[in-house]
Amino acid sequence: MATDVTTNPNKALWEKGDFTRIAETMRESGESLVKSLGVTKGLKVLDLGSGDGTTALPAAQLGADVLAVDIASNLVAAGNARAESAGLTNLRFQEGDASDLRDLEDDSFDLVVSIFGAMFAPKPFDVAKEIVRVTRPGGRIVMGNWLPNDPTLVNQILKISAAYSPPPPEGFVSPMTWGIEGEVTERFTAAGVPEENISFERDTYTFNYAGRPSELVAEFRAYYGPTMNAFEAAAADDREADLQAELEALFDAQNTSGHATAIPATFLRVTVTV
Ligand SMILES: C[S@@+](CC[C@H](N)C(=O)[O-])C[C@H]1O[C@@H](n2cnc3c(N)ncnc32)[C@H](O)[C@@H]1O
Repeated sequence: MATDVTTNPNKALWEKGDFTRIAETMRESGESLVKSLGVTKGLKVLDLGSGDGTTALPAAQLGADVLAVDIASNLVAAGNARAESAGLTNLRFQEGDASDLRDLEDDSFDLVVSIFGAMFAPKPFDVAKEIVRVTRPGGRIVMGNWLPNDPTLVNQILKISAAYSPPPPEGFVSPMTWGIEGEVTERFTAAGVPEENISFERDTYTFNYAGRPSELVAEFRAYYGPTMNAFEAAAADDREADLQAELEALFDAQNTSGHATAIPATFLRVTVTV
């Protein structure tokens, strides 16, 4: 289902840059996360908010039959190109919105994975309802959601960026609320899942980049939609240099590598049995 970029700010945000440039720093963590999922040959997997396939690709390499759905048409194209060059015929990317999966039938997947994906869709209760609807009874849902009020990289980028940006429109629900256990429980129980079928753990993704932290900041500035928007807002107030300096200080402080960049970031891993 194609959605219209002119009327959908969510789609416009993610098509604005090129998330592939950031995803390239997340491949190793994506692969290890998928290895922990017990993916078996023929398992029917939906990767929601898949980007260009950081988790969808390794799942297909383990033999799963994977449909990857993302709202950004450029990332769908990049994903299909990656699947083709990897020779994977069991992996297909298509455009769609996590809050309205009307092209997908009820009970069609054994496993729905959404790593920092569906959390960015508006209407979180609709997202939970749709994810549950397409998962077969007895199937599993695994979400990776960034944490609010967390000292590690992603929440800090968003916090710094927010200070340079206009307030969000009225009624906007922050994607970071998907990192609050109580909110996640409320969303999935409203979709009919018993509370005891929902569990939480803390996990870590590491951003690995061959250059120095300031060069990774430059990648975010040039290619990551939310950071691009923050720089545009900062430019309007002539404060781009301040934003740059704050982000460089953050990336430097969190870097654990002596010669390149390796920044671990904590997230909430949610597992739901339907
Ligand atoms: C931070 S990226 C993560 C991508 C991928 N899961 C990964 O780990 O590399 C967020 C992704 O969610 C997608 N996204 C945002 N809103 C969406 C929505 N409403 N429906 C489907 N995908 C969405 C974006 O296009 C983007 O690819």
